[in-house]
Amino acid sequence: MKVTIERLNQYIGQEVRFGAWLANKRSSGKIAFLQLRDGTGFVQGVIVKNEVGEELFAQAKNLPQESSLYVDGAVKEDDRSPTGVELQVTGFEVIQEAEPYPITPKEHGTEFLMDHRHLWMRSSKQHALLRIRDEIIQATYAFFRENQFIKVDPPILTGSSAEGTTSLFHTKYFDEDAYLSQSGQLYMEAAALAFQRVFSFGPTFRAEKSKTRRHLIEFWMIEPEMAFCDHNESLEIQEQYVSHVVQAVLANCRQELTTLERDTSKLEAIQAPFPRITYDKAIEMLQEAGYEVSWGEDFGAPHETYIAEQFQKPVFITNYPLGIKAFYMKPDPDYPETALCADLIAPEGYGEIIGGSQRIDDLELMKRRYEEHNLSEEAYGWYLDLRKYGTVPHSGFGLGLERTVGWIAGTEHVRETIPFPRLLNRLYP
Ligand code: 4AD
Ligand code: MG
Repeated sequence: MKVTIERLNQYIGQEVRFGAWLANKRSSGKIAFLQLRDGTGFVQGVIVKNEVGEELFAQAKNLPQESSLYVDGAVKEDDRSPTGVELQVTGFEVIQEAEPYPITPKEHGTEFLMDHRHLWMRSSKQHALLRIRDEIIQATYAFFRENQFIKVDPPILTGSSAEGTTSLFHTKYFDEDAYLSQSGQLYMEAAALAFQRVFSFGPTFRAEKSKTRRHLIEFWMIEPEMAFCDHNESLEIQEQYVSHVVQAVLANCRQELTTLERDTSKLEAIQAPFPRITYDKAIEMLQEAGYEVSWGEDFGAPHETYIAEQFQKPVFITNYPLGIKAFYMKPDPDYPETALCADLIAPEGYGEIIGGSQRIDDLELMKRRYEEHNLSEEAYGWYLDLRKYGTVPHSGFGLGLERTVGWIAGTEHVRETIPFPRLLNRLYP
């Protein structure tokens, strides 16, 4: 197995050699401390003048930040180190002496850091965030496989829009018009009727002119879709899935959570089931608290935050009015002005992380929706077919990966939860 910093504790007492970058350093006369990173983690390398000689010691002391090198050393147990080990450096070979590095340990402004995202992602907090993102992705695949879902990949270039036409990214597809996918859902419905339980994980695009800490132009969504599944069963899958992901991060990302100074006691409590309230109840709670919001209006960030603050766990808000939700949602037979749908609101003000619903399975009702929403049979004929050939009750949902990472990692802004964020005013780097 390759010797990496994250596995150094398996080499205590041994001599090792590995490739690394110099993240930071400090020295005092006869001893220098090299903060080394190799992409898997960080470790302190201790280099002593008397042991390595004048020349090597001087070279270490003068080595610029982010220089690349091969390091030789002995792995020592060290209780003060977060990884439990320290490296007694016996030698090193410089691959490149880096030019003066723009990101220094001092404070930098957000725009500067975002302009240097390609370098900033090396920093310990950014590194921890993206490792947590990876853990959530791995836990997602494990959960859905365990629950008999198969992964299906919907297209990214499409002729249809699932989530309204206002936020579509338009492009030419030779002589036709095309859009970048806002959601793979409509295709996942077709896949559910072919494979029963499916999920997708891919990039989605929304040309939203929103400049908030929750909005990206390009974000990644996990979209499960289930045949023979009603709204309630879907909510159960959602709460189990979210609990699974949080517990996986707690189990496998302790060090990253420490680096990010995340209060993990709040995460320990995230276990299914989650509380459920109706939209009507949410309106009542908001009005009692003095918010000016009336039935039929959608919630904004302050509303969601207030509701979330009343609970320790994520909360489902169910039964939104049909008028503020998508065309494909099934009306609730017990309350037909509302949809069999729910948004899952994360705790601590991180906002909506899941949107989901039971889908209309009735052909005649879907045809009426096409008329109301001006959906052409030319572009959406195939979607209508799903209601003609063996229609079944089916439900699904979409979880926004970046908002979920932001919440679990405890990070203010979604721009840090994706390697290269696409924001309203940012396409670089
Ligand atoms: O609520 P949304 O729009 O739902 C759908 O797209 C459904 N078709 C999903 C489905 O049922 N298959 O988006 C789902 C989630 C939101 O809850 C949010 O977490 C995330 O996607 N999301 C965004 N994340 C970052 N930036 C944006 N601009 C986002 N828009 C939605
Ligand atoms: Mg939504």
